[in-house]
Amino acid sequence: MNANARQVATYLQKSKCTVILTGAGMSTESGIPDFRSENGLWHGRDPMTIATPEALETDYETFFNFYLARLEALDEASPHKGHQILAKWEENGFTHHVATQNVDGFHRQAGQQHISELHGSIQAIRCHDCNMKASDEKFRSKGACSACGGRLRPDIVLFGEMLPQQEWERSIEMISEAELVLVIGTSLQVAPVSQLPNLTPGQKVWINQEAPEREEWFDLTIQGKAGEILTEIDQMLSQPES
Ligand code: APR
Repeated sequence: MNANARQVATYLQKSKCTVILTGAGMSTESGIPDFRSENGLWHGRDPMTIATPEALETDYETFFNFYLARLEALDEASPHKGHQILAKWEENGFTHHVATQNVDGFHRQAGQQHISELHGSIQAIRCHDCNMKASDEKFRSKGACSACGGRLRPDIVLFGEMLPQQEWERSIEMISEAELVLVIGTSLQVAPVSQLPNLTPGQKVWINQEAPEREEWFDLTIQGKAGEILTEIDQMLSQPES
């Protein structure tokens, strides 16, 4: 793995435009489950009965309980060393944009400035019916929208909903210019984000606990925990090139 970490460090030193694409595997070392691993959030649950506008409208109780539990889990969690390293790399000019599917806000909390939250933010609450913003407390106490009496929800992208236009366009713009893309902790199962790696002319590196479905899509794959791998690469970055 050292050799691969050294190779990624070399890529990072050479690349003039590096984009990081992250998924839920970036937050499991903070104690937040991902979706499709053994003990993931979709294990034993059908996401179509929870994470869709129809589910919200027909079974608000299940929708509400699922997202309340996720918010409460985040009360006890914080970004880990991997998030901090990505923010440091941005500050040091090694990376230029983070496109994340994660709604936990950990990249921002760790100090990442150039970021697109492609699936929104679970901490931002709005009315499902009139879009009016509402407080986290109002949602947690199962309150209704103060403007129209509608149902409150996190401002995240549910299956079947559009991604935030500006975030999406910015991510496409950056990845189309990228010389290097690190794909970290995502199964790439969900469109349209799953298509982003195909848009880059640059080197593609897969960092994940499991091997990619399509190994040939990537110039390099490193299997293991994101936090540990990013730490190893970071150590290589601070060593003089051998
Ligand atoms: N280090 C590296 N990889 C990890 C780690 C870790 N510590 N923990 C989990 N992984 C990997 C898993 O092996 C898996 O390949 O991260 C990936 C997580 O994949 P998913 O659970 O499918 O999460 P993600 O790809 O982010 O899902 C995309 O699906 O349900 C929707 O909106 C939701 O944004 C989410 C989208």
